[in-house]
Amino acid sequence: MLLLAFPDYLLQAQRLALALDIQLQQVYLHQFPDGESLLRLPTDLPEHIIICRSLNQPNDKLIELLLCAKTARQLGAKRLTLVAPYLCYMRQDIANQPGEAVSQGIVGQMLAELFDDVITVDPHLHRISTLNQAIPIDNAISLSATNEIFLFLQQQFDDAILLGPDSESEQWVSAIAEKIGFDYSVATKVRRGDTQVSMSLAEFDFQDKPVVIIDDMASTGRTLAKATNLALAAGAKQVFAVITHPLFCDDAEAHIRQAGVQKTWSTDSISHSSACIYLDKLLAQAVRNIL
Ligand code: R5P
Repeated sequence: MLLLAFPDYLLQAQRLALALDIQLQQVYLHQFPDGESLLRLPTDLPEHIIICRSLNQPNDKLIELLLCAKTARQLGAKRLTLVAPYLCYMRQDIANQPGEAVSQGIVGQMLAELFDDVITVDPHLHRISTLNQAIPIDNAISLSATNEIFLFLQQQFDDAILLGPDSESEQWVSAIAEKIGFDYSVATKVRRGDTQVSMSLAEFDFQDKPVVIIDDMASTGRTLAKATNLALAAGAKQVFAVITHPLFCDDAEAHIRQAGVQKTWSTDSISHSSACIYLDKLLAQAVRNIL
């Protein structure tokens, strides 16, 4: 088994290779002036290749993944496993308007054709319950970072209120709350556009308590900002955030700072300054389980 790593995801790939006690080699990547990518793989590949790269900022990465997987097959790889802690295009699971691409199914089918196994963490699945409904292969494996987040929070807080900013977050907030024994509350959110969300808190006593917002991803940061505004207005002592996938696009970080988030922590699913909860052991166990 060999782990192939990309330069933008080297540290996480190295941690995974170490946890699995396997060799790692880098894919050589060159970007031509016109934006096309040149990839070069090691030529002496073993039968089982693990490709480790998260798929945030996905458009170039998907093409590079296609080139990488096809080239690995041409070089003799018999089994290809994709470890992509953040999986892209999982949110668009229906055509909201006639003619819209249902990206989840299209990207899922592409991954199914390229890979024997796909391992990811807390993919954003709305209307389907299992990952192989989106990626139609047996080994479409969806892990959850809730245990890693629980272990992290245990080190930080003796007590806090966990707050899920919308109904989707309830699955993660309730799982973590149950493990750690903290109370939790879930807000109601309506998204009106990329940067417009409205939200209301459930009846709950936040007075003078530290609040930790738990969400699977922060993109524009508007969800986090709104939840922070409401928690502070309801009397919370301080507001913190734990995010599984820290996408943090454009002005997101400035926006949540302005809203009053004291500190944000995230997993290393995506390279980001807040990433301090490592997923290597969770991912390594999942790889071992499929062998
Ligand atoms: C949506 O349901 C997700 O769980 C996140 O709450 C959402 O994607 C965050 O997006 P943003 O940071 O743009 O508000």
